[in-house]
Amino acid sequence: MKIKNSEFIISAVNPTQYPEDDLPEIAFAGRSNVGKSSLLNTLINRKNLARTSSTPGKTQTINFYNIDDLFRFVDLPGYGYAKVSKTQKAAWAKTIETYLNKGENLLEVIQLVDIRHKPSDQDKEMYRWILDCGFSGIVIATKLDKIKNSQLQKQINTIRKDLDMPDDARLIPISSDNRKGKYKVWDLFNQLFKDRGYDIFLERQNENIE
Ligand code: GTP
Ligand code: MG
Repeated sequence: MKIKNSEFIISAVNPTQYPEDDLPEIAFAGRSNVGKSSLLNTLINRKNLARTSSTPGKTQTINFYNIDDLFRFVDLPGYGYAKVSKTQKAAWAKTIETYLNKGENLLEVIQLVDIRHKPSDQDKEMYRWILDCGFSGIVIATKLDKIKNSQLQKQINTIRKDLDMPDDARLIPISSDNRKGKYKVWDLFNQLFKDRGYDIFLERQNENIE
């Protein structure tokens, strides 16, 4: 299928607010400003369905997006921005923890990191959390357009090593600016749907990109 209708469903904090039907979900976690909302827009070909901002801390709740009534993308609140109280940080951790444990339809939580930087302590903590919850530890490295090709392998090696990624865990670099890497992510999602027995296959749009 080609993605036709994507819509924002709800901004949730508590499980009572999560969507009730049992569509499979793929969630994105990562530092504030890493590009979670931009990635979501890129994947579904929408300019601004998920609100993006150069001001960190835009997405503070769990935002659910319905994709053609077949599955959902879930934009998790970003962590790591400085101007936040301890109470707010604890609330954030609780919101995410509850979702990871209670989100019954959650296929994978994908960790986003900025391809330019060494993963932060919070990135490492989040990634551990994802693995401990039993997810496979897929990483998407954002802002690929911001580095030279010659730097790519070195950055990938650093991220793999610093996050202590399992050998079989996938790392996919992507740019939401020129959309390079988009279809590698789609291929991965198609595989995930297939492996879990869902009859969902995302077809390429007419675009000349990888
Ligand atoms: P929070 O909602 O605060 O958690 O942030 P977020 O992770 O959703 O980040 P968002 O998608 O809002 O992007 C943050 C900034 O980075 C925006 O100014 C985006 O335009 C920019 N950005 C995101 N992805 C890319 C990318 O692949 N390349 C470039 N050049 N800029 C990007
Ligand atoms: Mg966001």
